Amino acid sequence: MRTLGIGLIGTGFMGRAHALAFRNANAVFELPARIHLAALADADAIRAERCASAWGFAHSHADWRQLIENPQVDLIAIATPNHLHHPMAMAALAAGKAVYCEKPLAVSLDQAREMRDAAASAGLVTRVGYNYQHNPIIALARELIDSGELGEIISFQGEFSEDFMADADTPWSWRCDPQHAGGALADLGSHLLALARHLLGAVEAVCADSHTAHRQRPASTGSNERLAIRVDDQTHALLRFANGCRGSFSTSWLKHGYKNHLAFEISGTRGTLAFDQERLNELRLYRPHERPGMDGFQRLLAGPTLPGYAAFCPAAGHQLGYNDLKTLEVRALIEAVCGMPGPGPDFAEAYEVERLATAIRLAAREQRWVEVDEL
Ligand SMILES: NC(=O)c1ccc[n+]([C@@H]2O[C@H](COP(=O)([O-])OP(=O)(O)OC[C@H]3O[C@@H](n4cnc5c(N)ncnc54)[C@H](O)[C@@H]3O)[C@@H](O)[C@H]2O)c1
Repeated sequence: MRTLGIGLIGTGFMGRAHALAFRNANAVFELPARIHLAALADADAIRAERCASAWGFAHSHADWRQLIENPQVDLIAIATPNHLHHPMAMAALAAGKAVYCEKPLAVSLDQAREMRDAAASAGLVTRVGYNYQHNPIIALARELIDSGELGEIISFQGEFSEDFMADADTPWSWRCDPQHAGGALADLGSHLLALARHLLGAVEAVCADSHTAHRQRPASTGSNERLAIRVDDQTHALLRFANGCRGSFSTSWLKHGYKNHLAFEISGTRGTLAFDQERLNELRLYRPHERPGMDGFQRLLAGPTLPGYAAFCPAAGHQLGYNDLKTLEVRALIEAVCGMPGPGPDFAEAYEVERLATAIRLAAREQRWVEVDEL
């Protein structure tokens, strides 16, 4: 069996999630390659070494360029702040290596376009970390939509809210820097836009409003220095899909009480489907009932009949978790690298997500409807 050497950059929230997924993938799935944790890089050399040892990587690097050049590394996983995705992915593609990059793809549409074009001309496999699409119950949602179970789809209401920035004294971080990230829309909203496209296809026009509620934040925890915030705390938009469906979109990192509220309601002429990532093993399905008094939503619970679920657990209702979605994502990645292309957004699809996000920013700035094809 072929061995694939993994080079992972970043040891934060996502670095750890990638490491766990790469560690688990061969145990959970029958994959066409054996995963070798070849190298781990982080700008903090001590942390790189400590995490490499704890997570089972053979080598650590303080310089990510050395990791990319490491001959043991075949596939580069990028789990660093957003502004580093472009230079790291471009260097990896130039070195002839497949790339698994965290979302959002880049911090500008120009960067995203360059990444898409470099991947296409190199002919290399790329995947982007829109992990929520790999949820087996999202595959069921898509099947219900595509099979016409809900009739003609006419309405999408989507929201991705969290509250990790709700406190005005939560300090500045790279997520607050427009050059390094892009606010709630980039951080959270990009997941929702990717999911909307995954379920319903292209969006052709948007109008939008963006708002920064907390205009200054402490430079660091306990600091008296205040830094100006120039990214959105919340963004609302209306969406017009190419298939005629109308939609609303909202994202906020200030919404008290919500921890991972990536949610949608999709209605068709014959029913409604609802999902909330905070209850990621459930779908709510409404179809009109013929018997009076029996009207109501059905709660569909994930189980082993859904693709991918049984590899983790043979029993329904026992539930998958966030990190399992990452393992499912890694399965799709490894299969694609081994010539078995399956689901999962690549750089071309992530570019389209960035184009849509950029249209929303433009619509908010100019306070008008924007056709996505303007970009
Ligand atoms: N898919 C998801 O559900 C999800 C969730 C959270 C974050 N993310 C994405 O993952 C990426 C990382 O986010 P995070 O929350 O893990 O951030 P984080 O701040 O927790 O970790 C970032 C890591 O990058 C390292 N780093 C920074 N500069 C570096 C450099 N020059 N060379 C090497 N390493 C460097 C840091 O030391 C740190 O280990 C972001 O793009 C974010 O949008 C995705």
